[in-house]
Amino acid sequence: MVVSEMIASAALGTGQAEMLRKTHKSEGLPHVIQLAGCEAHWLEVGAKIAQDAGADIIDINLGCPSKRVTNGFAGSALMRVPDQALRLIEATVKATTLPVTVKMRLGWDDDNLNAADIARRAEEAGVQMITVHGRTRQQFYKGDARWQLVRPVKDAVSVPLVVNGDITSFDAAQKALQLSGADAVMIGRGAQGQPWLVGQIGAQLAGAAVIEAPKRQDLLNHIFAHYEAILSDYGTELGIRVARKHLGWYLDVIGQTDADLRRPIMTAETTDTVYQRLPELVLESWGKAA
Ligand SMILES: Cc1cc2nc3c(=O)[nH]c(=O)nc-3n(C[C@H](O)[C@H](O)[C@H](O)COP(=O)(O)O)c2cc1C
Repeated sequence: MVVSEMIASAALGTGQAEMLRKTHKSEGLPHVIQLAGCEAHWLEVGAKIAQDAGADIIDINLGCPSKRVTNGFAGSALMRVPDQALRLIEATVKATTLPVTVKMRLGWDDDNLNAADIARRAEEAGVQMITVHGRTRQQFYKGDARWQLVRPVKDAVSVPLVVNGDITSFDAAQKALQLSGADAVMIGRGAQGQPWLVGQIGAQLAGAAVIEAPKRQDLLNHIFAHYEAILSDYGTELGIRVARKHLGWYLDVIGQTDADLRRPIMTAETTDTVYQRLPELVLESWGKAA
């Protein structure tokens, strides 16, 4: 299952084009739309728009650490005011017929590890799945995710519990599941430049045949398909810029670290540059990965 980027519910509710773009559906996958917000009214409106956009599930963000979001009392700031978080969750559950899920952190800081309490109350309010990133808000992305601290959340709820944070391999996934007792894993940054990692880890956890990563021409075809999807979704001008970081991650994964060779791709102002330079770079980099 893949979840959309966080969508600010008030901006979605007032028709901001950028937020509407983020509700676009990927064919062939369950459509999970994540909403953020701090006002019940806008979450209700957002949930209805998400449902009309074809969502199958609505996820609520209680985990974003960014100051821009927490200063507006959304994302992880809501973990400091559990009653308000619950009001928003209840309003969302009431506003839609779709399943509602919640993503959170361990708590605001180490003195306030209240994920288990909020998760239990969320389940009582009708939430059907909970994901916990094993860091506090004050950790941002620093230090290691503490999967063992997700276990009290698992013990507090009976809905499926997903553990998240630093899961970049099958071994890490197994360890996270074992320490947290969770039912599933969520993968974020580990999939950058290698989106097939999610399927690989999933197949291994299910005991299915190993899925090979795409190589050489297959990889190039994959990267170009991703590139074209970005250009089509964002429009060419913005898409060229958005794509740069993804192209950089693909080059990282195949071990192409030569700054002089990477530069034209990483600073490309036109799609022509990418189409001309990338094939050589990807095919020649092959084998440089550790
Ligand atoms: C650039 C960036 C953007 C993110 N955006 C979101 C988001 O929109 N919604 C969300 O729930 N988490 C978001 N996250 C957090 C990730 O979903 C995840 O919880 C966190 O990165 C830890 O997992 P990982 O180590 O597998 O990446 C974001 C993380 C990063 C680095």
